[in-house]
Amino acid sequence: MADLSVKIKQDEKSYPIIIKNEEITDLAEEILTFLKGKNYLAVISEKVEKLYGKALNIPKENKFILKDGEKEKNFKNFKKITDRALKMKLTRQDAILAIGGGVAGDLAGFVASTYMRGIDFIQVPTTLLACVDSSVGGKVAIDTDYGKNLVGAFYQPKIVFINPKFLKTLDERQFKTGLGEVVKYSFIEKSCRCEEELNLTNFLSEKSEEILSRNEKTLSKLIEICVKLKISVVEKDEKENGLRRILNFGHTYGHAIEKITKYKKYTHGEAIVEGMKFAFNLAVKRNLIDKNYKFLAEDVMKKYNFREIPQFNPEKMIELMQMDKKATQNSIVFILPTDYSAAEAFELKADEIF
Ligand code: GLY
Repeated sequence: MADLSVKIKQDEKSYPIIIKNEEITDLAEEILTFLKGKNYLAVISEKVEKLYGKALNIPKENKFILKDGEKEKNFKNFKKITDRALKMKLTRQDAILAIGGGVAGDLAGFVASTYMRGIDFIQVPTTLLACVDSSVGGKVAIDTDYGKNLVGAFYQPKIVFINPKFLKTLDERQFKTGLGEVVKYSFIEKSCRCEEELNLTNFLSEKSEEILSRNEKTLSKLIEICVKLKISVVEKDEKENGLRRILNFGHTYGHAIEKITKYKKYTHGEAIVEGMKFAFNLAVKRNLIDKNYKFLAEDVMKKYNFREIPQFNPEKMIELMQMDKKATQNSIVFILPTDYSAAEAFELKADEIF
């Protein structure tokens, strides 16, 4: 078990992150203990409800079952959940829970951030992607017709309960999409400025078989390393004014892949792995790193056997990257490797990219 915490400058925003490999029924009890005296609405992913509903044992009147898929992270569900909370007469003393992957977490978190101008929010991530990324750090949002996550907030949860037991039932692609983000941390580890040396690159090389066979102990450790790295970044830059940008390693090109394929063909993790490969090539071209590092990084990615993605029309990709939230009129922000396990943000002109 790991008992971590995020310490944000304003103390009331700090919160614990509990990583514990325990029976789901025991987790449910811990959540209830934390909620003691509060009324609550749990937004729970349909798949999680089917698999773990019985063990979680949340009364019908306290749950909102959310269909699975990114398309559910919309205004319509934002309104439905808010209406449910209003109908239940939740007050600011109560809480909203998210039990599921990033879609449930982002959507329920955004409702929590606006409900009565902010109600306690509890994250129970059930996918690897949500465990290592979206449940920690307070980014909550919904998608719009103009793009993903364009309406949202920075709203920190009160507590995060992570239990690797949920990962046993993830389908292979869902699991791999999380691994894409995990591998990302290994390429930015030094830049996360974590006091503890975690050496994720070694862990990923030495434990690949245990990770791929989802050994619960190994996954606990893996999640703990990633969460420590994320905490280190978020504590230093909650609102992405500087350091936090490194978490977008692989994302500039990766988001463009997701957009060009209409979010249908590749998962987020697959797209960002391709985005990281693109960033390594670009970094070699700009003499930021030597080729040996690029080959080593490619070997790590190969070990995890991510889906191959073809090249797309460069002009179209530039156009899409210029629509990125972080882009300005004249430049596109790219996170590029600068050394082993280190990366920095660069503002590049369109003609410097291909
Ligand atoms: N997913 C990137 C971040 O939390 O900043």
